[in-house]
Amino acid sequence: MNGSIDVPHPIPYQGSKRYLAPTILQYIPATISRLVEPFSGSAALSIAVAARCRAASFWINDDHTPLIDLWREIIHRPDKLAHRYAFLWNDQLGREREYFDKVRDHFNATHDPAHFLYLLARCVKAAIRYNANGEFNNTPDNRRRGACPTAMRRRLCSTSALLRRRTKLTSWDYKKVLNDCTEDDLVYMDPPYQGVGGNRDRRYFPRIDHDEFCNELAKLNARHIRFVVSYDGRTGTKIYGKPLPDTLQSTHVEMCAGRSTQATLSGRHEMTYESLYLSPALTASIKRAGRARACQLGLW
Ligand SMILES: C[S@@+](CC[C@H](N)C(=O)[O-])C[C@H]1O[C@@H](n2cnc3c(N)ncnc32)[C@H](O)[C@@H]1O
Repeated sequence: MNGSIDVPHPIPYQGSKRYLAPTILQYIPATISRLVEPFSGSAALSIAVAARCRAASFWINDDHTPLIDLWREIIHRPDKLAHRYAFLWNDQLGREREYFDKVRDHFNATHDPAHFLYLLARCVKAAIRYNANGEFNNTPDNRRRGACPTAMRRRLCSTSALLRRRTKLTSWDYKKVLNDCTEDDLVYMDPPYQGVGGNRDRRYFPRIDHDEFCNELAKLNARHIRFVVSYDGRTGTKIYGKPLPDTLQSTHVEMCAGRSTQATLSGRHEMTYESLYLSPALTASIKRAGRARACQLGLW
């Protein structure tokens, strides 16, 4: 629950913007023709917008195909998916550890969406991790059995009710999505964190090229497309990732994401802030909508 609004969250997902969505929503127009998420993951922002009836339609994209296959089942066949998840969840009881490995093997052989949902519900930090052979290799969090079937069914069915018949699903590279966006769209981008990873397999540590990304944003500016980008941030004075360049003329705001658990473990009490960048077209539209609101958001 979020205030008085029930916002379902069907896909457990490390890096989900579920808790920051209400803050991000402040910078999004009251009504949108279409909300596009090129890096959707668990699409927390799309669900938050849909729950508040603020967009007529949605485009959920992620280049990770098993995730979009899972989204297709959630939106179009929630009953069947809930039933299959319940079967796996009940079947695991009493042998949870070995059962996880069995489901993981099956998922690696078939990419079955119900098995993927079970793995995400049970794995450590709900993190999607693959080895260099493209096999899902995260391990179970043995303290958790995953959401119980009744709770999962509720989440799946209410998400489907919010998004059914008005959501386009694709598993394209984000550049292809941006190319098809128009001035009527509001694009929310949450690319993989720059501040993590290494020079390894791309799927194991998905990354995008910073300069190429900035170039894509410049093209959106030239087409007057409104967009919002979540892009790393800072803990205390330590900054993660490169900022967006001034040439993009975006407005930078910081959102408090809470106390840093890492810093707390080291005995420091530092807050983590995530960066949000608003495109010039979006900032201009917020200002046009009213000076009082723009001042309240610190944009005037
Ligand atoms: C930080 S996560 C997004 C989290 C999302 N905002 C949420 O609420 O769950 C970034 C996503 O971008 C996807 N991704 C990575 N590279 C991509 C690319 N080139 N094109 C499209 N999606 C990509 C990843 O699979 C991942 O799901």
